[in-house]
Amino acid sequence: MSVVIKSPDEIAIMREAGRLNAEVRRLLLDAIAPGVTGRELDELAKEAIAHRGATPTFVGYAPGGRPPYPGAICYSVNAQLVHGVPGDQALREGDIVSIDLGVTWRGYVSDAAFTAPVGEASPEVLRLLERTEASLHAGIEQAVAGNRIGDVSSAIGAVGAKGGFGIIREYGGHGVGRTMHEEPHIPNYGRPGTGHQLKPGMVLALEPMFSLGGEGTEEESDRWTVRMRDGSLCAHFEETIAVTEGAPEILTSMGRLNEARDGAAATAAGGAA
Ligand code: MF3
Ligand code: CO
Repeated sequence: MSVVIKSPDEIAIMREAGRLNAEVRRLLLDAIAPGVTGRELDELAKEAIAHRGATPTFVGYAPGGRPPYPGAICYSVNAQLVHGVPGDQALREGDIVSIDLGVTWRGYVSDAAFTAPVGEASPEVLRLLERTEASLHAGIEQAVAGNRIGDVSSAIGAVGAKGGFGIIREYGGHGVGRTMHEEPHIPNYGRPGTGHQLKPGMVLALEPMFSLGGEGTEEESDRWTVRMRDGSLCAHFEETIAVTEGAPEILTSMGRLNEARDGAAATAAGGAA
């Protein structure tokens, strides 16, 4: 149960890792269009990461006897939730796609994800995307020294519950550092005042996942891709953040993709609920 505290020098490197991650995610977001395949986006990510002298964290990742992960990105379409393996299936108008990217720079990892529509999306889908992103920022607001993991988790879960979404319980956030997954685990639901206490120098990846249907997931035959058991559409947003003496610092930020609809979490100082 030990959570690694990073020194200011380590945070400085992780800030660079996060900036590179944001740059590459921006390229990927801009490349999303009907007809584009996961493999093409993955190639784009691999080239952009190599061009920056960094390495793709996810390539070769093989926890617990799984086949080594082949991609630089996870590419999860529609009812696929996370860890989708990029292949030759092309995006179509009306799809939603989650892209998750890990970039390692000077031995430190940055981990971040977004879900975006391909072309037009229905109001219901736009609301799912906007609320899932908003929940991430509600969680980030709670990631201040002295608070506990349960404060972050419950803030995320409250946005999901209020929106009437399925809140995926089988996956969550995690510490990040020299390896992609460090302690603590960060559920997307919880009780305030419980769990690990946050301290300056902790680096965390928060990653809410909500669906338009149920909460259960299943693994596809590739042993990686996780999809919603009921086939419902789902969204996933992730940022790597540092806990500081003051407001949390978002290391991987490429800006908000969806305009917040209720003003909550729009300003860290506002404290709106
Ligand atoms: N961001 C994902 C996570 O935190 C990592 C992707 S798993 C991999 O679980 F296999 F693609 F590496
Ligand atoms: Co992650």
